Amino acid sequence: MQDAFRDQVLAGKVALIAGASSGINLGIAQRLAEAGAKVMLISRSPERIEAAARTLTEAGHTALGRAADVRDYDAIAAVCQETEDTFGKIDIVVSGAAGNFRAPAAHLSANGFRTVIEIDLIGSFNVLRASFAHLNTPGASLMSITAPGAVRPSTFQVHANAAKAGINQMTRCLAMEWGPAGIRVNAISPGPIADTEGVARLAATPEREQALRNRLALRDYGTKRDIADVALFLSTENARYITGTVIDCDGGSGLGDASEDALTAPPPRG
Ligand code: HXC
Ligand code: NAP
Repeated sequence: MQDAFRDQVLAGKVALIAGASSGINLGIAQRLAEAGAKVMLISRSPERIEAAARTLTEAGHTALGRAADVRDYDAIAAVCQETEDTFGKIDIVVSGAAGNFRAPAAHLSANGFRTVIEIDLIGSFNVLRASFAHLNTPGASLMSITAPGAVRPSTFQVHANAAKAGINQMTRCLAMEWGPAGIRVNAISPGPIADTEGVARLAATPEREQALRNRLALRDYGTKRDIADVALFLSTENARYITGTVIDCDGGSGLGDASEDALTAPPPRG
């Protein structure tokens, strides 16, 4: 068996990554391409997705970028077909397109709630479902990008947390249905990741950023590379027996508020 982190462990493999024009998903695309995969990148904006693909091709990798909205099933299905026609059957799918903003529920419009559910949850189903007919089986590895808020509730995030909770359960359901065909379905749950749109939106001020950091057991934000390494591992044979799981890569974010530590603890009795 190959080693997950050896160079070119994905040589000859084909990966489709949705939401890949920036941030965490572009980091994943970069990591999979470095490992030898041919990558198809998807996002809404033709300019942003073509620029992302260009970054990879200029680094010597095989990459294409296509504009498609994950809310539009037919558009995603067309890119899946093009991926197979161009690169061959798809071995790896990363479904990570998302939209988010902080909004108190009492001020969140029905359309605001629906929009995030449509991008994050329905969009993820669309990507995984549309890829199904184009997967290289047995052995395909599918993964969605979820968040700790799927399990641990937080304020001003009812839309995103509900969508991500749906993704977690969808992951388990699809793993059961598609496992017999040799398809693994998992999700990755990142904590706050430095230099991303997500953190810019959810921790918009230095004070809030510091407060968030202090609540993490590991007291630090993660990097795009931290998440990309988990995606790489899930893409390889080393993860052949892992399906239906949500892998937390979150500095302990999902555990809850860890801001009380040994220094602030009450003195021992006696
Ligand atoms: C309240 C808002 C809002 C805001 C938009 N809406 N922004 N409501 N506060 N800040 C409402 C609008 O008023 C509208 O409702 C509805 O949402 C749809 O807005 P549109 O702008 O028409 O939607 P669209 O163009 O489809 O854009 C989607 C978007 C946008 C989510 C609103 O922000 C986007 O494209 N984001 C993509 C990038 C992104 O968010 N990246 C960060 C992901 S981080 P009305 O009623 O007025 O019509 C992440 C972290 C997860 O996901 C961790 C926690 C779970
Ligand atoms: P990001 O850079 O904004 O990434 C979101 C991507 O989705 C962009 O490429 C965006 O490109 C694309 N996108 C948005 N709506 C789309 C649609 N309808 N159809 C197709 N593509 C769409 O944000 P990020 O912070 O790196 O987040 C990436 C993933 O990680 C998301 O799933 C997010 O929920 C998750 N996450 C992030 C954090 C964090 O700390 N950042 C924490 C937990 C989970 P276009 O604008 O070109 O469409």
